[in-house]
Amino acid sequence: MGVAWTPAWGAVAKGTSMRDSRFLPLTAEEIVAAAAIARAASPNPESLRFAAMYTHEPDKWQLREGAPVSRQARALLVDRSDGSSWDMVVDLDAKSVLQSDKVLVGASPVLMEEFMTIGEKIKEDPRYREALAKRGIQDLSLVQIDPWAISNVPDVDISQGRLCSSVSYVRHFEDDNGYAHPIEGVVAIADLTTGRVLEIFDYGVKPMNEECANYLPEFNQPLRDDIAPLSITQPNGPGFSVNGHEITWQRWRLNAFLTPIEGLVIQGVELRDAGEWRTVMHRASLSEMVVPYGETDPNHLWRCAFDAGEFGLGKLANSLTLGCDCLGEIVYMDAVLASETGEPQTIRNAICIHEEDDGILWKHTDWVTDKVEVRRSRRLVVSSISTVGNYEYGFFWYFYLDGTIQFEAKLTGVMQTKAVEAGAPDEPGTWIGPNLVATIHQHHFSFRLDMEVDGWRNRVYQSDVYAPPVGPGNEHGNAIRVNKTLAQTENSIDGMVSPQSARTWVVVSSDHRNAWGTPTGYKLLPGWANSTLFAQSPSHVAARAGFAKRNVWVTPFDQGQMRAAGDFPNQNRTEMGLPAWVREDRSVVDTDVVLWYNLGVTHIPRVEDWPVMPVERAGFMLVPVNFFDRNPTMDVPPSEPAACHQPGSQGEAENCQH
Ligand code: NI
Repeated sequence: MGVAWTPAWGAVAKGTSMRDSRFLPLTAEEIVAAAAIARAASPNPESLRFAAMYTHEPDKWQLREGAPVSRQARALLVDRSDGSSWDMVVDLDAKSVLQSDKVLVGASPVLMEEFMTIGEKIKEDPRYREALAKRGIQDLSLVQIDPWAISNVPDVDISQGRLCSSVSYVRHFEDDNGYAHPIEGVVAIADLTTGRVLEIFDYGVKPMNEECANYLPEFNQPLRDDIAPLSITQPNGPGFSVNGHEITWQRWRLNAFLTPIEGLVIQGVELRDAGEWRTVMHRASLSEMVVPYGETDPNHLWRCAFDAGEFGLGKLANSLTLGCDCLGEIVYMDAVLASETGEPQTIRNAICIHEEDDGILWKHTDWVTDKVEVRRSRRLVVSSISTVGNYEYGFFWYFYLDGTIQFEAKLTGVMQTKAVEAGAPDEPGTWIGPNLVATIHQHHFSFRLDMEVDGWRNRVYQSDVYAPPVGPGNEHGNAIRVNKTLAQTENSIDGMVSPQSARTWVVVSSDHRNAWGTPTGYKLLPGWANSTLFAQSPSHVAARAGFAKRNVWVTPFDQGQMRAAGDFPNQNRTEMGLPAWVREDRSVVDTDVVLWYNLGVTHIPRVEDWPVMPVERAGFMLVPVNFFDRNPTMDVPPSEPAACHQPGSQGEAENCQH
C-alpha cells in the first residue's frame, strides 16, 4: 500500500501524562514515610491500622494544565481502640497530611486482623455453644467460622460499630473441606472491635451432611498416570523485558502492579507504530467485584461480598509458583503493599509474566498457485490470583501481536453450600451431596477502563448492526448497515449488551484519523458472560451494587471516581458510585472518557463444580478498529517448521511457506 503513517495529533499527544511515575504504586520507603505521617496525625497511633494504603494518583486535569502536583499516598484507616474509620491523604513531598476525614464507622475495609481473631471470640459465647450442642457438636476445635461483611444482613443496626456476620462449618479432621459440612441455621453477629458477640440467630436445626468431599490428592486415589510431560521452553529466554513495573514486549509497553483494593492494575498502555508511541489506555483496573447470593432463607439471603471494597483483592493476592500457577519462561514481579500495621510487606511472585503460543495469527492458501502463507500468533500474559475466602479468582490480561487486548477472569475454588433435608422438594440450588446443595449466585466484575486512544480526547459510539427496511435503497432486502450512536452524555446510550445487533462500544480519538480518513479507535467487545444484577429493591445489594444493572457506562474522567460502588462500600447501605455519579448526565464527547464494563457471571452450580470448581472463564476484548492503516502483523516473520514425533509426518513440510 505504501501509505506512510504520519502522526497528526502531535500537539494533543504532548498533553498526555500516562508515563508519569506519580501513577505508580508506593515504594517500600514511601510506605514507611506515609505510615509515619499518618501515625503522627492520629490520636491513637498504637491502635491505628491500615486497611489499605496506596498511591493517591494525580488528577490528570491538573497535570495537563501543568499545575504542580505532589507525590501523595491515601490511607483507609481503622482505629482498633474504637473502630472508627478515617480516610487520609498524605503529601509525601511536604511530609504532611493533606486531608483527613472521619468516615462512617466500619467504612474502611475489613482488617484481616479482625477476621482472623473473631472466630475464637464467637466460639467462647455460651449462646453459640448451645446452638451447636443442639446440633450434636460439643467439640469446637474443628469448627470453622467464616466471617462475612455485615451490610446485607437485614434488621441489624450497622451504625453501632465495626460488625461482622458469620456462618459455621465443621471439619471431620484438620484438612477436611468444611464446606461439605455446613452448620445450618446458626448466624453469629459480632463486633470486630470489642470481640463481643451481639446476637446468635438460630433458624432451626437441619441435618448435617456427613459425606466428605475433599480435593487433596490423598482422597482422590488413584491419580491418573497417563498425562504426557509437557514443557514449554524458550531457549533464548523470554521475548519481553521487565524494568521495575514496566513491561516491554513486541510493539507494546505497559506498567503492571497491584493495589491493595483493586489487585492487578495495568497502566500506561502504548503501542509503537512507525517509530512513534501511540497511547491506548491510561489505566485498567477491576474497580469493584460483587458476589450476591440468591437464596431466600434467613441463613443465606444476606450473603454477598464486595471482594474489592470490603476486603481488597490485592491484599489477598497469592504468591505464585513456577510450574504450578504458571508454566513456561516466567518472569515474576513482586508486589509491595502496606501491612495492616503500616509496614512494607512484599508479596513474592505476585504477578506472573510470560509469553504463550496462540495458534495461528493468519493464513492463506493461494488456490491458483497452491502456495501457503501462515504466521503464528502469540500473546503476552500478565496475571495474578487472589483467594477470597472460599473462592479463587485469576485475573489474566493478554496482549496480542495484532494490537488486541483481552481480559480473562478464571473463577475457581469451593462453592458456598447449604445443608438441607434429603430430597427436599423445590430446592433452587444444585444437589451435590446427600444433605447438601450449592447455592445460586452471581459474580459481577466492574472494570474501569480509562481509555486514551491516540491522545486523551476521545468519544464513544455504541455500534449496532441492523437491516434497513425493504424499500428504496434496499429493494432486495439484503442490506446490512451499522448504526453508530454517539454517547453525548452519560445517560445517552443504554449500555446493555445486544448480541442480536452485534453491539460493541467503540472509543475513538477526537483528533486522529488513519490513512483513509477514519478516526482511530478501539472497540470493547463484550464476552459471553454479561448478566446484569438480578437482586432488586428492597434488597440492600440492589442499592449498593447499582453499577451491575448496566453492562457499560461511560463517564468523563474524574479523579474522585475510581471505584464503581464508591470508595467505601463496606458497612454502607447507601447508593454510591456509578448510578449516583451519572445523575449529573455529564458530557462525554471529545474529552477524557472512562469506559466501565460490568462482566456478570451467573453461577448456577453444577455438580462438576464440586468439591472444587474447574476454572470457569469469562472476559472481554479491546480490539483495534481502524487504529492502524492495515493488518499490523504483516512484518511477523514465518516460523521455522518443527519436527514431529509421529512417524511419517516429519519433513512433510520443509518450510511454513510452501
Ligand atoms: Ni461462583
